[in-house]
Amino acid sequence: MALLALETSCDETSAAVVHDCRVLSNVVSSQVTLHSEYGGVVPELAAREHLRNMCPVTRKALGEAGVSPGDLEAVCATQGPGLPGALMVGLKAAQALAFCLRRPFIGIHHHEAHLFSPWIEGNPPTARFDQFQAHVSLIVSGGHTMLVLVSHLGEPKLLGSTLDDAAGECFDKVGKLIGLPYPAGPVIDRMAENGNSSAYDFPRPLLHEPGHDFSFSGLKTAVRYFIRDHPEVLANRAKIQDLCASVQAAIVEVLVSKTIRAARNHRLRFVTASGGVACNRALRAHLQSACNREGFALRLAEPSFCTDNAGMIGILGERKLKMHTGITDLDADIIPNWALASC
Ligand code: KG4
Ligand code: ZN
Repeated sequence: MALLALETSCDETSAAVVHDCRVLSNVVSSQVTLHSEYGGVVPELAAREHLRNMCPVTRKALGEAGVSPGDLEAVCATQGPGLPGALMVGLKAAQALAFCLRRPFIGIHHHEAHLFSPWIEGNPPTARFDQFQAHVSLIVSGGHTMLVLVSHLGEPKLLGSTLDDAAGECFDKVGKLIGLPYPAGPVIDRMAENGNSSAYDFPRPLLHEPGHDFSFSGLKTAVRYFIRDHPEVLANRAKIQDLCASVQAAIVEVLVSKTIRAARNHRLRFVTASGGVACNRALRAHLQSACNREGFALRLAEPSFCTDNAGMIGILGERKLKMHTGITDLDADIIPNWALASC
């Protein structure tokens, strides 16, 4: 028996089939080209695109897994948080399918699913819960930046999150100021490779504050003023590379320092990271060397599980099904502002 998972919280339409902690298929249809001309995700367009993609993506996921709808043991979908219209498409499709198949439906918290993605590894991708240890997790993407204390699987506690822009949003908005295409995070990652990260000095917001919250809008504003005062930088490729490397260094330093400090404060020696920005090579390298220095173990989600995907939704859904903790009503509504419990 297998479980079908759907994810439509933002701009990726994704369907996955999971069985016995293994991800048998994980189909992701990204809407990046649709939204790139607007420089960000347009919620109404995202919802309509999810509607168009839902059936083909689901059919593909079932086909790749060699599973027919009648073989499904349960259906799950992201219930929140996310864009209301986008969430509605995946949730209602999953509930309708569960109703037709007379199978249980499980509504999934998107951030809790991100927490499971660093434990998925190998081929076929398999969740290694046998290796679980209490840890601090950094979830960092275009929509979220948060530190979560995970003492036990299934009981995450939010330590802190961004007060304004998410780290990915900061990458994307800075990229827009520089004239880079959306989403700018991966482009800045590549440009920074040949740049000097100490060429320009940008603020590291809240770096020395005692709490676990983040703030990135001041950094974006600092870059805006820098470009206003030094327009010549944008006419020179080497200087743009230096600018990208310097901004990236500021974001990475804040993310790494605050993650390490949160683990230290909670006397934990294990760190995980996930979300689209966790694909960033400088972040991965700096987090790894900081963990080595501290003697911490680190699990980074594999890049295909960093960005939004239904595989992580299915892995959490299957666990909830096994633990008898997550059966959700077939008429349950979306929860766009669903927050993780705080510490
Ligand atoms: O998790 P994700 O696919 O979607 C959500 O926002 O939930 O993350 C997308 C974000 C975008 O802001 C994108 O610019 C950023 O992740 N991103 C990166 C990299 N790859 C994706 N940021 C920095 N470096 C990267 N390599
Ligand atoms: Zn996400």
